Amino acid sequence: MSKKIIVANWKMNPKTLRDAEALLRAYRARYSAFKKVEAVICPPAVYISPLHKAVRALGARMGAQDVSCFEGGTHTGELSAAMLKSVGAAYVIIGHSERRKMGETDDVINQKILQALKSGLIPIVAVGESEKNEDADRILDMQIKAALRGISISDVRNILFVYEPRWAISRGPQDTRGLSDAPEHAIEKMIYIRRMLARLYGASVAQKTRVLYGGSVRSGIVAAFVKKGFGFNGVLVGGASLRVFEFIKLITAAADA
Ligand code: PGA
Repeated sequence: MSKKIIVANWKMNPKTLRDAEALLRAYRARYSAFKKVEAVICPPAVYISPLHKAVRALGARMGAQDVSCFEGGTHTGELSAAMLKSVGAAYVIIGHSERRKMGETDDVINQKILQALKSGLIPIVAVGESEKNEDADRILDMQIKAALRGISISDVRNILFVYEPRWAISRGPQDTRGLSDAPEHAIEKMIYIRRMLARLYGASVAQKTRVLYGGSVRSGIVAAFVKKGFGFNGVLVGGASLRVFEFIKLITAAADA
């Protein structure tokens, strides 16, 4: 049984590099939990280089939260896949709903995935509906088909998908409203994603591709999403990854599920 994947999306936190270093030191003090999972830490891009060693020492991999859709050139403020890779990123989150909300289109997301693959970054592609009453299958259909345009069968195997409905995302570490999707519903969507992959690339790809869940994941509920047999391969964690004890409990619960 392969290890569960736990992606920590720190978003625009912590406030300073010093705080980020302290957060990693606190993770490090509970090092043994990290050995039980495949952890990917995604800090703000400016912290990637200074934190790279500490993330490695944890036995985790480094991820970025976004990447440019351009390869290089006259694009002020953009960070290319090759740049992120050169400072230590191995993964990159693409198509997060907080970025889609800022106007990122399916087309741009597709370009970003292509750039990431070209530079050897592993794309973590987030898909999901915005509102609870929306037709999730129709939206997944559109987002996945667009995201995978021009992507070969050998490349698609490297992509991680995250089913993350926007309505289930927390407002941060202190948000305990319990907004997460119901595990049964989320697992239905995972099956739908695999069915789409089967149609587009064949049954073997659909079976082997790793699909994660994201949206208000906390230690008390994570096991229901990653349970043995028919669960997700892991989770994408936002707010809870900033609370050390909670995050360690979450990792342990996921590893034991
Ligand atoms: P959350 O965020 O766990 O705080 O809901 C997840 C995400 O948006 O990546």
